[in-house]
Amino acid sequence: MKNHLTVVNHPLVQHKLTLMREKKTSTAVFRQLLKEIAMLLAYEVTRDLEMTTKTIETPLQETESPTLKGKKLALVSILRAGNGLLDGVLELIPSARVGFVGLYRDEETLQPVQYYFKVPTELTDRRVIAVDPMLATGNSSVHAITLLKEAGAKDIRFLCLLAAPEGVKRMKEVHPDVSIVTASLDERLNEVGYIIPGLGDAGDRMFGTK
Ligand code: URA
Repeated sequence: MKNHLTVVNHPLVQHKLTLMREKKTSTAVFRQLLKEIAMLLAYEVTRDLEMTTKTIETPLQETESPTLKGKKLALVSILRAGNGLLDGVLELIPSARVGFVGLYRDEETLQPVQYYFKVPTELTDRRVIAVDPMLATGNSSVHAITLLKEAGAKDIRFLCLLAAPEGVKRMKEVHPDVSIVTASLDERLNEVGYIIPGLGDAGDRMFGTK
């Protein structure tokens, strides 16, 4: 991908995102909208997948027809909110392999600490799409991508619903090779690291916790 940051301005994405931002939107509707937006974002993040052709037979004649080539996909969900995006992306790419990275924030050092890491084999040969709805400070996403690189990943995209300028900047500094696809570049982070205007805590809103 040419750009470090792609904001998907498609009317359907923007309309659904507005519904998700509204605080009165229920958990069930929030989750459904996230799945729908994830499918639309997946369309964009896979736009430059390599193609080849193969010979097929239609009911009328033989023809050369386009088909995906080469690298297999690996989707990696950054727990727990990543799972909401993952569901939609998987709907569109059901044969993708799936991995999970679990991180929590150490309250003293404020640094992300890994508690779970399970990714598909042969990561080096795969196009990896890491998913996490909120790119806020970037601490956990950037760390998750460092772990994926340590596991061999070389071709990584980052898919999120909302990005803050601070997180985009940090991702660019640490992982300039990783392109970001998002539905919105929001204004800023507040003093406790929430995206403004944002949509609140994505995990809480999709799973109904608080
Ligand atoms: N994580 C969230 O869920 N929401 C934010 O606004 C920032 C980080």
